[in-house]
Amino acid sequence: MSHVMNTYARQPVAFVRGQGVWLWDEAGKKYLDALAGIAVNTLGHNHPRLVRALTEQIGRIMHSSNLFQMPLQEQAADRIAAITGLDEVFFCNSGLEANEAALKVARKYGHDRGVAEPAIIVMEKAFHGRSLATLSAGGSRKIQAGFEPLVQGFVRVPLNDLDAVRQVAAHNKNVVAVFVEPIQGEGGINVSRLEYLKGLKEVCDQNEWLFMSDEVQCGLGRTGKWFVYQHAGFLPDVVPLAKGLAGGVPVGACVVGGRAKGVFKPGNHGSTFGGNQLAMCGVVTTLDTVKEEGLLENAAASLGGVAGVSDIRGMGLMLGIELDRPCGELVKMGLDAGLVFNVTADNVVRLLPALVISEAESREVVERLVPLVKAFLAQDTVQQKTAAAR
Ligand SMILES: Cc1ncc(COP(=O)(O)O)c(C=O)c1O
Repeated sequence: MSHVMNTYARQPVAFVRGQGVWLWDEAGKKYLDALAGIAVNTLGHNHPRLVRALTEQIGRIMHSSNLFQMPLQEQAADRIAAITGLDEVFFCNSGLEANEAALKVARKYGHDRGVAEPAIIVMEKAFHGRSLATLSAGGSRKIQAGFEPLVQGFVRVPLNDLDAVRQVAAHNKNVVAVFVEPIQGEGGINVSRLEYLKGLKEVCDQNEWLFMSDEVQCGLGRTGKWFVYQHAGFLPDVVPLAKGLAGGVPVGACVVGGRAKGVFKPGNHGSTFGGNQLAMCGVVTTLDTVKEEGLLENAAASLGGVAGVSDIRGMGLMLGIELDRPCGELVKMGLDAGLVFNVTADNVVRLLPALVISEAESREVVERLVPLVKAFLAQDTVQQKTAAAR
């Protein structure tokens, strides 16, 4: 019996080695990895530059605490400031922590302006993490169920509906921020229209709200630019990051600028592990490698289309293929065929490969996936007809 707490429905495969976008299991079977540990392994597996830098760093120092100066943290923050266009970085260890920091920044911003019960506009189908505050900000009843009472202070609107936000602006004077994933990942790869994001930013500016862009999954080069808001051409006030930021070493960052700059003062937030030397070495090396290997340009060339499904959406290397029926079984069929991806929101095949994927490997993902999807649809249709005939 396993003593690991039973919180995941795991696939019956254990990967023991990786190289680039390829993985091997215990039996030596080889897989093409189109998931990258859910958008974590930015540089693929076993990237020589990252491995060397991290190994050397472990031999020097891994952790000394935020009670002391940390030049590597300064270097990582400088790089993040340069690519985001923002000013201050708080380091933590995961996406939910980055978002938790963002929510605290928004509340503090509100209190500093005399709003006693600050409220934050959030989106339907959003996912921001599984702490009490972030699951309350998220739009999934399934994830919230059993953990009530939820954290208060969120007003929910549909994604891509600017009028809904304007309505809230007209009636709720407690709102201090809008919190949006510009491409919803867990919700099923739902892409915000760029015009919508620009309009949202205008409403934020008119009302002096913070624009908070959760780029934990969609950020860091995956869409062909460092961040999705850069496609829309403006600067948000708060950008939580995590996942791919250190190429596989756990890290999170809450990046602020604009109206959010200077909101947190000494004592307002903290994290024991946050910003330790090991994670910071991962950040510096990953960001430098993405830049120097031209991986943003690589992500801009998309994987291409798959026919016979209800929708294909996404940007660059964040793609969702929606089927007209639940398709969780496809994950196991993929593993059998040596292809790693997952299914989100029940019926959306999700591809999040490493940014190092080559054109030939991208084509191979499509070549392996298309027959699988077709086989699944055919088999599922036969099963449905047989069930109907019984
Ligand atoms: C957009 C977004 N925000 C936050 C999170 C939470 O990140 P973590 O699992 O590191 O807490 C995720 C994780 O999938 C995410 O996709």
